[in-house]
Amino acid sequence: MQPYLDNTLREGEITMAYPKVTIVGAGNVGATAGMILAMKDIADVVLCDVVEGMPQGKALDMMHMRSNEKYGTTITGTNDYADTANSDVVVITAGIARKPGMTREDLIGINSKIMLDVIGKAKAASPNAIFICVTNPLDVMTYLAFKNAGVPKNRLMGMGGVLDSARYAFAIAEATGASVDDITAYAVGAHGQSMVTLPRFSTVKGQPLTEVLTPEQIEATTKRTVNGGAEVVELLKTGSAFYAPGSSIAKMVEAILNDTHEVMSVCAYLEGEYGIEDTYMCVPVELGRNGVEKIVEFDVNEAELAELQASAASIAAQVDSLGLRA
Ligand code: NAI
Ligand code: 2OP
Repeated sequence: MQPYLDNTLREGEITMAYPKVTIVGAGNVGATAGMILAMKDIADVVLCDVVEGMPQGKALDMMHMRSNEKYGTTITGTNDYADTANSDVVVITAGIARKPGMTREDLIGINSKIMLDVIGKAKAASPNAIFICVTNPLDVMTYLAFKNAGVPKNRLMGMGGVLDSARYAFAIAEATGASVDDITAYAVGAHGQSMVTLPRFSTVKGQPLTEVLTPEQIEATTKRTVNGGAEVVELLKTGSAFYAPGSSIAKMVEAILNDTHEVMSVCAYLEGEYGIEDTYMCVPVELGRNGVEKIVEFDVNEAELAELQASAASIAAQVDSLGLRA
């Protein structure tokens, strides 16, 4: 992207400044997202974490890459929110990740305390930022952040559906032999076991998936998608996925900073869309400079609508367990 024109200068002086993206939580997901953003050369990145020295060390390591990778952006590490001030986008990946045998929902207690701590401090430092929550359980943590941050709904969203859709595209590519470049895939609903794939709206070379694969094959691609995160956890044994999550965060940040209005599956606040009220859940969204520019309502049939509403109900049950609703 083109760096922003710095309009604080006097007439005749021209310099370019990159937008500023803060990532709170410089662990596996946060650091990977930071590195991908730097390599895309689209934003100065601030990595912020509670662990002293770690974000600074990772940032320095990434700065050492600059002469190889030729990016002009800077990456800095900090433990102080003052260094995150006036960010354009704040990504929150702070929290614990799941281990084998754990569901995303098992993380709810500890991560809700972390999310409340982070969103308060990050918002105070960057009141006009767009916030992207990543911490699991994603839909509940994003709702918790929204109810406490005092940020308009278009400027607060979650990342889950972009990752799930990327995993769906991978599963479809494996099943069909098609290039991922020729696949458009939508996985929506909760970022969890009640995730909903949309085969009628997912395409291979322009053809709906329902015309390319048998119902049994489609069911298998859905299963592969829903279990994609667990498959990685079982293999890693010490944590959860971070390369595809980092890339999915970077894709969302790029769409926001470049004001692309690309439609992707984003965890957004629903107030009646798809017949769902007062819930953060992944749905097709147009992303741009104002964050969630528009929630796109696909022409879903009765069965798809029922799946989406069941997924929303599973999120609502977790939200209620936290006593978050009035
Ligand atoms: P990680 O353990 O590698 O990194 C988490 C980082 O958060 C650590 O560096 C830790 O020091 C930091 N942290 C903890 N409390 C903090 C606080 N109060 N303030 C600032 N930093 C704090 O974990 P990983 O793998 O990076 O995952 C992070 C979170 O993202 C987990 O909750 C995980 O489940 C979630 N996740 C969500 C995905 C999604 O699609 N929404 C995909 C992958 C992970
Ligand atoms: C994932 O889907 C754990 O949410 C994380 O990989």
